[in-house]
Amino acid sequence: MADKLKEILSPVSEELAKVDINIKKNLETGVPFIDKSALHLFAKGGKKIRASLVILSAAMGGEVTERVIELAAAVEIIHAASLVHDDIIDKSFLRRGDLSVPSKFGDKVAVLAGDYMYLTAVGIAVDNSNKKILKSLSKATREMVQGELYQLEYSNIDKITQEHYYNIINRKTAQLMAASAFIGGAEVGFDDNRCNALYSMGLDLGYAFQIVDDTLDFSESSEVTGKDIGNDFKDGKITLPFIYILNSGDEADRSKVMDFYRSPDDADFAEIKDLIHRSGAFDFSLAKAREFAQRSKDWLDIFESSIYKDIIIEIINFVVERNY
Ligand code: IPE
Ligand code: IPE
Ligand code: MG
Ligand code: MG
Repeated sequence: MADKLKEILSPVSEELAKVDINIKKNLETGVPFIDKSALHLFAKGGKKIRASLVILSAAMGGEVTERVIELAAAVEIIHAASLVHDDIIDKSFLRRGDLSVPSKFGDKVAVLAGDYMYLTAVGIAVDNSNKKILKSLSKATREMVQGELYQLEYSNIDKITQEHYYNIINRKTAQLMAASAFIGGAEVGFDDNRCNALYSMGLDLGYAFQIVDDTLDFSESSEVTGKDIGNDFKDGKITLPFIYILNSGDEADRSKVMDFYRSPDDADFAEIKDLIHRSGAFDFSLAKAREFAQRSKDWLDIFESSIYKDIIIEIINFVVERNY
């Protein structure tokens, strides 16, 4: 699967390699504690979906200039900073197939490394963009933090509804993908109509992406995803598959979910996993993700055919087929 995405992105591999170099250049300070912690996540790279959205949206309308590369780097650094902080919040041990920043360096370093990364990204954006792009990036980042906070407040069994769930994933995940596509288009001078279509494409992709991410918590192994498995539910985070059971499951299934929620036990997790599949919750969630993916692709209809548009479509397809 890792190879599948690499293959999809191979026509822009040179641009993505430049993004990597740019990230290192921007995060290297010579202060060992900062460099080791801030660069830790980039040793394994990640999928680079957000950087790819910046590059490909720009490429659909013009040249992938050095400024586009800088913006793609800024977006990936914002994303990585959010992962560093998210792994503190979620007490996650693994990230990108390695120790998470908080588990390797401790929470104190992780808070500061994340802060440092956010501000580094702001610095890059200030040097390489206009007000429209800066506004979009700043809004997306604020929304992301709001999403994490909103999740802390509402993603529990007593409060969560589907509406809350979609609000959470809109903010914590979809807004940054939307902004990534938007700023790529804005940088090469697409008109408002096209920039907004790119934004909406990224937004629907983000919804699909997070729904799939939430199902992966029950489907795959840590070896495949590179992250902890079952963490969401054990941490009391109620995602779409559980909302489905709570709303539409039979009484026995609902009470099993409640019992497990009240006293999460590793030994029972296999049973819960089985329940997610048997109840139709898994299929329901994936069908929703596919609906969002289709909507995401539809936004691209107004753009003329190009290899870059095709790659975005392949990324959207990959997001709902992926297992990591
Ligand atoms: C993980 O995003 C965080 C979520 C929004 C679910 P990715 O799965 O894109 O993370 P990397 O960059 O590939 O590690
Ligand atoms: C990550 O959400 C979203 C952000 C980092 C803002 P999750 O907590 O659901 O993602 P993973 O599973 O840790 O990647
Ligand atoms: Mg989280
Ligand atoms: Mg997490």
